[in-house]
Amino acid sequence: MTMFRADLFKGKRILVTGGGTGLGREMADEYAKLGATVYICGRRGPVIEETAQELSKNNNARVVGLECDIRVPDAVDDMMTRIFNEGPLTGLVNNAAGNFISRTKDLSPNGFNAIANIVFHGTFFVTLAAGKRWIEKKQKANVISILTTWVWNGGPFTVPSAMSKAGLNVMTKSLAVEWAPHGIRLNAIAPGPFPTKGAWERLNPGSMRSGTMGSEQDGSASGNPMGRVGQMHELRNLATFLMADGCDYLTGETIAIDGGAFLAGGGNFSQLSKLGDQDWENIRNMIKSTNEKDRAKRTV
Ligand code: HXC
Ligand code: NAP
Repeated sequence: MTMFRADLFKGKRILVTGGGTGLGREMADEYAKLGATVYICGRRGPVIEETAQELSKNNNARVVGLECDIRVPDAVDDMMTRIFNEGPLTGLVNNAAGNFISRTKDLSPNGFNAIANIVFHGTFFVTLAAGKRWIEKKQKANVISILTTWVWNGGPFTVPSAMSKAGLNVMTKSLAVEWAPHGIRLNAIAPGPFPTKGAWERLNPGSMRSGTMGSEQDGSASGNPMGRVGQMHELRNLATFLMADGCDYLTGETIAIDGGAFLAGGGNFSQLSKLGDQDWENIRNMIKSTNEKDRAKRTV
């Protein structure tokens, strides 16, 4: 259910990080459908390539898959050079992220870095690599970062993610001012629960085992004022509105799309306080087995 005219993004060139799966794939698909040339990147080459081919075919559009680990500044710079050699980007969606639930006392420094290096550092590297090129070329541009509502009320049991996303919230506000004179605007989206395999395997691993992802039984809608999880077309439409021309005076804003969960005092993992040592041991093992399977597919 799109709200926008079919050629809205004709002539636009947009990079969606982590666009091979989940929400990134949804947004990339929508932008391609509306006529943009879309670039997607991720560490698992085959995943990125398969998505790029499917989205190109489905939308009769140019969707380019690029293997890139956003934690590596030189790799990010190479990717940007390759993209800008074909023409300047007009938009960037900072969507790539890593996360898992864990008691903070159980985290090792490596565990913290595994998340902060992707979300906090990697997102900045991508934003910087695009921004300096836009400024140099005097190219007007638009950045959307995908955050969470935890940037406002904290993220118990997801502390490295919450800290990193909160940093990106401040990056959005800071650069909205610093880069406004260059015609670059930055906004952010804070989604509530939109079930995806990548997130649910690491945030709600039991629901993946029982096959209840996204249903009432997996608990992700419990306490939500609307009594449901998000639907992908809702996110697609918000990401289109923010990426489109026409409201260029809008910058530095982070918009929640969560059915009101955060305003109702929810939206984070505070209910996990009731879990015991054995529960956490089981959760950790399930997440680690997902991480190992995904890592085996990485090509960069
Ligand atoms: C404690 C854990 C752990 C767990 C990993 N670690 N899982 N610690 N509990 N469940 C620790 C490891 O022991 C290790 O520390 C360190 O983290 C690095 O682990 P690796 O597996 O080597 O990391 P790496 O291969 O770099 O993978 C990064 C990752 C992984 C973040 C751990 O999950 C990943 O690649 N994720 C990408 C996709 C993703 O996460 N999508 C979900 C986004 S959802 P030691 O000390 O042992 O070496 C989201 C918000 C959703 O962001 C909001 C919903 C409302
Ligand atoms: P997902 O499918 O796991 O998406 C994460 C993507 O990021 C993957 O495609 C992953 O691909 C990529 N990625 C991770 N590390 C990377 C790196 N170092 N370099 C390049 N790409 C990397 O999960 P999702 O649910 O769609 O999450 C997408 C975004 O939405 C994230 O920012 C997340 O925090 C946010 N979010 C999601 C929800 C939700 O309910 N789903 C709610 C709030 C916010 P590779 O592993 O192949 O690199």
